[in-house]
Amino acid sequence: MGESVISLHGIQKSYGKHKVLRGVDLEIPKGDIFGLIGRNGAGKTTIFKTILGLSDYEEGSIDIAGFDKDPDKGRGRIGFFVGSDFFDYLSGRENLEYYRQLKGIKDRNEVSRVLKIVGLDTARGSFKNYSMGMKQRLGIANALMGSPEILILDEPTNGLDPQGIADMRHLFQDLKKQFGMTIIISSHILGELQNTADRFGIVNNGIIERVVTQEDLKKSDNCVRITVDDRERARKVLEEAGIKVLGEEQEARSLEDYYFNLLGGEQNA
Ligand SMILES: Nc1ncnc2c1ncn2[C@@H]1O[C@H](COP(=O)(O)OP(=O)(O)O)[C@@H](O)[C@H]1O
Ligand SMILES: [Mg+2]
Repeated sequence: MGESVISLHGIQKSYGKHKVLRGVDLEIPKGDIFGLIGRNGAGKTTIFKTILGLSDYEEGSIDIAGFDKDPDKGRGRIGFFVGSDFFDYLSGRENLEYYRQLKGIKDRNEVSRVLKIVGLDTARGSFKNYSMGMKQRLGIANALMGSPEILILDEPTNGLDPQGIADMRHLFQDLKKQFGMTIIISSHILGELQNTADRFGIVNNGIIERVVTQEDLKKSDNCVRITVDDRERARKVLEEAGIKVLGEEQEARSLEDYYFNLLGGEQNA
């Protein structure tokens, strides 16, 4: 693992008597797409809020981009998306123009730049007539203003159809490739980030239960890929030798599989 851009050590947070984070340890490597996955209520949004300084905590420490003494200095390098709340009757461009001024970004071309990145530079009409996918992309464009090094996206694919989800995936990979951004994305849908993220933090009941890499998913003790010239015969020979063929397509262990092995249960997180 390379250099970390965000480190959390032993973060504990309660809402009243309810302990929501019970000692969160997390290292986000620079340039990675990091998926934070876990069921609703696991603590994903609360973790983001503590990173962003929107929520205080009782115990632990946070280091952002090397600013361990003063995380606020590091927070300036984070762009974040926690939903797409915009003015209904303004266009996407007008909405972002409002936020550009609010954020004190001087460059007047910034709105055009970020709209282009998310593919909304030619979008017409007011925000209220945007599709769900366009709304989410506008939210991400907003997060991209000011060229942050780190992007935090809380459930950015919520409510999107499969095409919208696929578009988002491509966008994340582009951002990583083009700008070398570190991107942290949360989701409660396991399969969604399987082919997008480099690393996954499994959040359960207020802690990071495990961090899994793509390599970990590929390691599997009963799954091997053999390329043969006659698949039917190969299967027959194996069965004659007393070896049960349980599946023929599976190459890597799915994230879903890994998750349920770790935590039990059988539905979406
Ligand atoms: N403002 C709040 N006041 C009280 N409890 C909260 C508040 N925000 C979140 N919680 C509780 O904290 C837990 C974690 O919530 P959250 O971080 O939003 O989970 P996730 O984003 O993984 O769905 C849940 O039990 C939730 O009910
Ligand atoms: Mg949440």
